[in-house]
Amino acid sequence: MPEYPALPGDTHTDALIVGAGIAGLLCAYFLQRKGVRDITVIDAGEVCGGVTARTTAKITSQHGLLYTKLLKGLGAERAAHYLAANEAAIRQYGEIIRHERIDCDFISCNAWVFTAHEEDLPSFEEEVRTVQKLGVQAVFSNDTELPLAVKGAIRFPDQAHFHPLKFSRRICELLTETGCGIYTHTAALGMRDGAVVTDRGTVRAKHVISCSHYPFIDKSALLFARIFQERSYVLALQNAGTIRDMYIDCRDDGFSFRPYGDMTLFGAYDHKTGHQHKTRHFEALLAEARRGYPQAETVRMWSAQDCMTHDGIPYIGQYRAAGENVYIAAGFNKWGMTSAVAAAEIISDQITKGGSEYQDAFCLERGDAGLQAGSFVKNAADVAVNLTAGLTHAVEPVCTHMGCAVKWNPDENTWDCTCHGSRFDTEGNVISGPALKPLNKAELAKH
Ligand SMILES: Cc1cc2nc3c(=O)[nH]c(=O)nc-3n(C[C@H](O)[C@H](O)[C@H](O)COP(=O)(O)OP(=O)(O)OC[C@H]3O[C@@H](n4cnc5c(N)ncnc54)[C@H](O)[C@@H]3O)c2cc1C
Ligand code: FES
Repeated sequence: MPEYPALPGDTHTDALIVGAGIAGLLCAYFLQRKGVRDITVIDAGEVCGGVTARTTAKITSQHGLLYTKLLKGLGAERAAHYLAANEAAIRQYGEIIRHERIDCDFISCNAWVFTAHEEDLPSFEEEVRTVQKLGVQAVFSNDTELPLAVKGAIRFPDQAHFHPLKFSRRICELLTETGCGIYTHTAALGMRDGAVVTDRGTVRAKHVISCSHYPFIDKSALLFARIFQERSYVLALQNAGTIRDMYIDCRDDGFSFRPYGDMTLFGAYDHKTGHQHKTRHFEALLAEARRGYPQAETVRMWSAQDCMTHDGIPYIGQYRAAGENVYIAAGFNKWGMTSAVAAAEIISDQITKGGSEYQDAFCLERGDAGLQAGSFVKNAADVAVNLTAGLTHAVEPVCTHMGCAVKWNPDENTWDCTCHGSRFDTEGNVISGPALKPLNKAELAKH
């Protein structure tokens, strides 16, 4: 990715975007196309150095078995808006890539959600009916390319996958060619008197857009109580045979497959950050790869984490609790490729036109207790339990974000926060936020 300087000091701008992952870059691109000229993007690290560099980049509106849940919880109109925003995102990627002539391995294909369990089939049948009613020609089948005993699967046509960094690199070039300022190694620390305070200076902006994956601000505890993080693990397999389509298990910790060139990206074992099972996840995934693809070679493996919401819908749009000019794009669950476009479309429309046709499905003020109660109570209990810590190690195992316990992750040799998912290396330095400060050293800790 191209390199950019740090912010040189205090400044002002029309639109400040915090976070230069795919969501932040697309927000800047959409704003620019809709006529906003003075745009500044800042990032605490490098451009696309966060989750966007570690995604599997399926571009799909098929987000597990979500739509029956949305239909029951949100009603037909808002569920249809959610689906339409994500379907539109797939088309918009195609249009941008064609219009800007971006060489980024964009390939159209089907997306499948599958199950290996007979007892899941009734919910698959219901989901097909729901999705068809909402306007996508989904089809039920149990004939897939997978080396698994698949009991049933739902196919969405006209989905896609691509290389998100090749795409984002060109978006960066287009942005800077038209005057957008991109600054790296510049962390937003919070907001004061309507301005964003960073470690390089204060930015006054007419519009502030948080695209920092985990939001960098929280007013009235609206977001920190509602967004948690989940890790997942991926292998890149060579000589695994070729698959044409993309697949995901309907179960939370099940398998995911997508082709990339002559490789298959094979993932699984999602779990809440700081709450890993006793299993070593990479070892377990390697064992599954050997079972399903005995002839394959693992050429890369990595892990990363998603921001999850309790109702499965991202928080996108105006964040009135923080100010009329503040916007959030967060909680993409596992579907940040289409959600990033949906966020760019909704927020740029809110700024330039005063509203968006899709905003009601994603708005921050939604209640929808019926959709989120179980997961919300569980997370609140995790936060309550983990807000105490008393272990002694080289570092004090207390997260510097809001004081929750951090737990040792033996798979990756990191300290992972049990509440909102900040991660720290063995020395206690921040790997990923929302925490911005390193863990305290144990000898300094006052136990
Ligand atoms: C293993 C894995 C596979 C996935 N596969 C898919 C998939 O197939 N399809 C799909 O749709 N989605 C997928 N996702 C989800 C998707 O990758 C993410 O939702 C998406 O990349 C998030 O983009 P982002 O721009 O919001 O975040 P990021 O790419 O993390 O960008 C956020 C940026 O904000 C910066 N930042 C953070 N805090 C601050 C601060 N205080 N000040 C300034 N900057 C800050 C960070 O440095 C970072 O660069 C996957 C996720 C994982 C973990
Ligand atoms: S990430 Fe919030 S307390 Fe650790």
